[in-house]
Amino acid sequence: MEKAYDFGLVGLGVMGRNFILNVADNGFSAFGHDLDTEKVLALKEEGAVNPNTIIDASSDAATFIKALSKPRKVMLLVPAGKIVDAVIDGLLPLLDKEDIIIDGGNSFFTDTDRREAYLAEKGIHFFGSGVSGGAKGARLGPSIMPGGNREAYQHVKPIFEAVSAKYQGEPCVAYLGPKSAGNYVKMVHNGIEYGLMQLTSEIYDLLKKGGDFNNKELHQTYSSWNTGRLQSFLVEITSEIFKQKDEITDGDLVDKILDKAKQKGTGKWTSQNAMDLGIPVPSIDIAVSMREISALKEERVHADNLYSRPAITHMNKKELEKLAEEALYFAFIITYAQGLHQLADASKEYGYNLNIAEIAKIWRAGCIIRAGLLADITEAFNEDSQLPNLLLSPSFITKVQETVGSARKLVAYAATNGIPVPGLSNSLTYFDAYTSNRLPLNLIQAQRDHFGSHTYERVDKPGIFHTDW
Ligand code: 6PG
Repeated sequence: MEKAYDFGLVGLGVMGRNFILNVADNGFSAFGHDLDTEKVLALKEEGAVNPNTIIDASSDAATFIKALSKPRKVMLLVPAGKIVDAVIDGLLPLLDKEDIIIDGGNSFFTDTDRREAYLAEKGIHFFGSGVSGGAKGARLGPSIMPGGNREAYQHVKPIFEAVSAKYQGEPCVAYLGPKSAGNYVKMVHNGIEYGLMQLTSEIYDLLKKGGDFNNKELHQTYSSWNTGRLQSFLVEITSEIFKQKDEITDGDLVDKILDKAKQKGTGKWTSQNAMDLGIPVPSIDIAVSMREISALKEERVHADNLYSRPAITHMNKKELEKLAEEALYFAFIITYAQGLHQLADASKEYGYNLNIAEIAKIWRAGCIIRAGLLADITEAFNEDSQLPNLLLSPSFITKVQETVGSARKLVAYAATNGIPVPGLSNSLTYFDAYTSNRLPLNLIQAQRDHFGSHTYERVDKPGIFHTDW
């Protein structure tokens, strides 16, 4: 009887190769599959380096499937979209009932629902599973966000828990819920990622323009912030980016990089779906829009020559750095709050039965938005699992109260000096609106009823009213 392998992986690109090596390093026998024979050979060679691992690969699908122990665990790490469906269709005739397919790509959640239902009719279990942390995460420990059939997950659990990142010894993976729960959580993870990245870029702009910080000083600032309450993967890599020298010319690489941001779309999906569900996530929305505005480079250069802007009044470096740290911490909290609110509401809408504390917990290590803050967030939702919004958590009131003033000062400073800080100002506006018991939208109700007879409610009595204005 030939050796039966514990785990199969389709797609031996950067993510796939690193993930399967991680699986093998953790004591599971692993078999890879890719139509590209060079990738197959590369994995066999790399797998042979460590005699303690059992790893093989083939470009032939039948050989691949036959090598796996049942119920088969077949993970796909292939680009999201039609390729996933093509790979599934290719494997389907070779699979048996109770086998498990896991899509580890950033697939759109309704695609996962469709695939899960299609395969369930054939007795095959399908999991959409976010995998966060990039190539390094895949190799050494990602945060993994699986969703699908709870019973079937028991066959995948030991492998995912072994390969995932660990936070204080706890695996950064958990069964999140049925159907596309995993893909949806990963999508919102990326929405928060966009928001946090936008904020770190705005603070960089403020320090540079408002405080004349050079790259060495920026490196030191973000590096010092990474030892405090802003400790996070994104702050850490930002400090490293300011230290990176350009290999082609003299100087620092960051200054040579074109300011046109691209996006594969997961942040946009977060924003679109939040709008569909009526959930306000303005800090994520504006992060997507800023990538779109940045792409209008030629127009921006032209427009810059058409309009004047105020001469920047410089701030004292130490004072600016302190304001920036507090403002960034404040806006980070607001951005997480918005994303987690979306998860809580979407969970009700789509029947995911998400546990927000559990999600914050598996984001504490391995994923792109990992941060010290997530330990506090986990605690807040452990204390109240039905918390509608992080801003209502007693443990966050002081954190926010103590730092919102700096956000106000920096937003005002930026506006006065013509420095765009849409993420920071949207976070502040969201906070001010969310914490207002009265907003001027009574006037909008009056306007709607005036021109469209759309009716309104009153503050002093129940019912629906209309006025002939
Ligand atoms: C992760 C990342 C990853 C994402 C890339 C590119 O969690 O490892 O979020 O999944 O796809 O970072 O994202 P954008 O091109 O959308 O910025």
